[in-house]
Amino acid sequence: MASVAEFKKSFLAEIDKIESREELEKLRVKYLGREKGLVTAVLRSLGGMPIEKRKEIGPQAQGLKQEIEKLLSNRKEILETKETMASVDLTAPGRKPARGHLHPLTLVEDEIRRIFMAMNFSVVEGPEVESDYYNFDALNILPDHPARDAWDTIWLRQNQIKNQKSKIKNGGRLLLRTHTSPVQIRYMEEHKPPFQIIVPGRVFRYEATDASHEVNFYQFEGLMVGKNVTFANFKFVIEEFFKRFFSAKGGSASGGKRPQIEFRYRPSYFPFTEPSVEVDIKLGGKWLEVMGAGMVNPRVFEYAHYNPRDFQGFAFGMGVDRLAMIKYKIPDIRMFYSGDLRFIKQF
Ligand code: PHE
Repeated sequence: MASVAEFKKSFLAEIDKIESREELEKLRVKYLGREKGLVTAVLRSLGGMPIEKRKEIGPQAQGLKQEIEKLLSNRKEILETKETMASVDLTAPGRKPARGHLHPLTLVEDEIRRIFMAMNFSVVEGPEVESDYYNFDALNILPDHPARDAWDTIWLRQNQIKNQKSKIKNGGRLLLRTHTSPVQIRYMEEHKPPFQIIVPGRVFRYEATDASHEVNFYQFEGLMVGKNVTFANFKFVIEEFFKRFFSAKGGSASGGKRPQIEFRYRPSYFPFTEPSVEVDIKLGGKWLEVMGAGMVNPRVFEYAHYNPRDFQGFAFGMGVDRLAMIKYKIPDIRMFYSGDLRFIKQF
């Protein structure tokens, strides 16, 4: 019988010439096959050998068996790679991986945040499920006041929120907030002036939908309070904001070309500001109403436990959807919520 060393030599010579997986399998059977494998035969014959010889040949044959197994599997891997490579057209153009991207409303909200943060405003958020107290009472919109009708409210059934009740101040009824203004009160309860904040967030109205109304949309609240914060300060901040927001690059950086915008402040009414205004901007020859604003009503300061003699400030609120519609010339607010990919993919 040939020696283990000879088998090894012949195996090494043969495996180098193998070019297919069928040949490789044949080689495996030749050496390690259960019935007639050459190395298998050696291993099987060990039992009949004298002990000294067995001690010598045994480990050699075992070692060779393991080595062969390892070389076979290496070779197999190489052959498989070769096969795949042969079936791949390396000159074919690459496939673009599908990439997610941000919703236009998110893009606009991010931009608004950036601009105000660059003007030293902090970003604050508040709950979407709100109490009667924060959404209305503390903003000087009292239960019998006709102004309540201006905010068509989605009320929540009390039994749906029983376990949250303990957290609700004044035990008021719960609702889906109709504006971001309740966060004015929440913030002032916890902080002393001077400060300037913006509050982005989702709001809800119980309304029939049409091209300019949705049951939920996004708003931005602004609030700046200090000893001497004036309406002139408001005008500066808000005009600066719109010039940056509508600048050519659409960026907050100074790099963008600043647009020609005219501003108009019309007298208006909100229970939580006094005096109140509606701000219009003239863009591309058209006047557009973009926000409600005013000087914080002293009564609101009282609800927040400030002494109205110590502080004054301005507040404003605007629709993110509306700004996005103006910026991207979108004719219908419902498009933002339609889930229509043909629309979303344009941004
Ligand atoms: N909360 C008002 C609205 O939703 C907007 C507003 C905010 C007006 C702050 C004045 C001051 O209509």
